[in-house]
Amino acid sequence: MKLVKLIANLGYGSRKDVTQLFRSGRVTDADGEVLYADDVVPYATIRVDDEPLDPPPGLVLMMNKPLSVTCSRKDPGRVVYDLLPPRYSVRSPALSTVGRLDRDTTGLLLFTDDGALLHRIISPKAQVSKVYEATLAQDLRGDEGELFASGTLMLESEKEPLAPAVLEVLRPRHAQLTVTEGRYHQVRRMFAAAGNHVETLQRISVGGLALGELPVGAWRALDAGEVARIFAA
Ligand code: URA
Repeated sequence: MKLVKLIANLGYGSRKDVTQLFRSGRVTDADGEVLYADDVVPYATIRVDDEPLDPPPGLVLMMNKPLSVTCSRKDPGRVVYDLLPPRYSVRSPALSTVGRLDRDTTGLLLFTDDGALLHRIISPKAQVSKVYEATLAQDLRGDEGELFASGTLMLESEKEPLAPAVLEVLRPRHAQLTVTEGRYHQVRRMFAAAGNHVETLQRISVGGLALGELPVGAWRALDAGEVARIFAA
């Protein structure tokens, strides 16, 4: 792919804008040599204003999603894309969230521009487990684990029962729930079906990939080993 198109696709501007970047000598190699639009050079050596290019397509990011931010492109309030560099919202192929977390759910949120990978992660067939930590309005009764594991729990207005899920009670009002599906408001609706109410909800892992110590609101690109870990649990 021509350098102008490649850099424009990364969101650095229209092809006209990027042509202007070349004309102004702002696109260089790692040694500061000015590059021309027809040059063929390794991706890793390209600099714009002395900074390495953003990662190429095939990008996968993890974010520690804060409260009160929506997994949407268009929302009157703050959206998760506002936490990324503005260029990332105009890349082609487009970067999308891998599934969604509610506005009031925090924790591990993935993004990718790789449609096939996105579908592999969210496909119910892939059985990628998602682990949530919930704090609850009322003490757990003791029978919720059995209900969630039954494979027969039917949520309101759903046609299929939920796949079995695993509940681990940490404290009377604090539990970890592992699910393999991603239905609308699933965890909140599961606890509601058990007569409780979720007060706070955080996703702490997706497959074998854990949120770890990533600060709230922070994000970073994943390497190939970390992407593989998503499918390794
Ligand atoms: N289940 C929910 O209820 N909310 C989320 O954000 C994710 C899972």
